[in-house]
Amino acid sequence: MTIVLPSAEIISKAADFLRGGELVAFPTETVYGLGGDATQDSAVEKIYAAKGRPSFNPLIVHVGAREWVAGIAEPDGRFDKLARTFWPGPLTLVMHRRSDSPISKIISAGRDTVAVRMPDHDVAREILKATRRPLAAPSANRSGFVSPTSAQHVLDGLDTKPALIIDGGQCRVGVESTVLDLTQHIPAILRPGSITREQIEAAIGEVTIGIMDPTAPKAPGQLLSHYAPGLPVRLNVTSPEPGEAFIGFGPLKGSHTLSMAGDLDEAAANLFAALRAADNLTLYKGIAVAPIPETGIGVAINDRLRRAAAPRNTTSV
Ligand code: TXA
Ligand code: MG
Repeated sequence: MTIVLPSAEIISKAADFLRGGELVAFPTETVYGLGGDATQDSAVEKIYAAKGRPSFNPLIVHVGAREWVAGIAEPDGRFDKLARTFWPGPLTLVMHRRSDSPISKIISAGRDTVAVRMPDHDVAREILKATRRPLAAPSANRSGFVSPTSAQHVLDGLDTKPALIIDGGQCRVGVESTVLDLTQHIPAILRPGSITREQIEAAIGEVTIGIMDPTAPKAPGQLLSHYAPGLPVRLNVTSPEPGEAFIGFGPLKGSHTLSMAGDLDEAAANLFAALRAADNLTLYKGIAVAPIPETGIGVAINDRLRRAAAPRNTTSV
């Protein structure tokens, strides 16, 4: 059994595995990550293989401190402002790579940019500190499926098991980090998350929403079908059909309810576990989801739900 609880001994074991080029799944505040040493091509290749991830979809590099970024990318004043305001935390910043960056080129999938974030979770930070290497860590699920918010989700979802799966309980945020592209004159949000457009604009001024172009995606996570359960998904449903699982919100109670209190943070934390539980082909014929307000983290929840509901033949990642 590869699921273990965190301890000083496990953290040092994880660091040994990572420095040796093995993969370790660990909790972050958003979702569980499948970590590998970002400076070793072979470790990064193992991540792509374990996820079945297309090689054109770049990975996020996780750092243990803001200062690590100077050796990896070309941070500017906007980076300083954002990192001071939101790190550690669920904000990923896309910047130009340094020409002598030690980060494996495979991570950038042919681009001259690199995405970096500093996670806000004790286990992730202790692993980074003990490894003393930047870690590539995509969500620890098969490409195109629902991200894991518990250690059991990781174990259930990956055919190729990592050397260790460290159990840090349920992830606090529950949806993946906001991805912001700082390489453009006006920075663009490529993936909405719990750090909102309004919060970012309060720190650095105007930002835009990245344009989705499925043929040349800036963040291939933008491709429409993603987070896809096996059953068909219908959105903005107030009365489900017989045989449908119903993911409720607020007063609309369902077989699975995201937040009875109508709290969007609670709903985000429960979202992926609810999608997994509702995706039961022996119990249900489809999944219906109650309307979720398009405010705050609700923007990220609705983004993931629209991808879960998108026609599967548009799946590219
Ligand atoms: O919350 C998170 O960000 C989680 C935890 C584990 O940290 N990680 C995560 O990684 O969601 P992943 O690989 O599942 O999603 C990374 C997203 C993808 O949409 C990818 O296309 C985008 O970030 N991305 C990575 N590098 C990029 C780059 N250089 N330019 C544009 N987009 C990039
Ligand atoms: Mg992912």
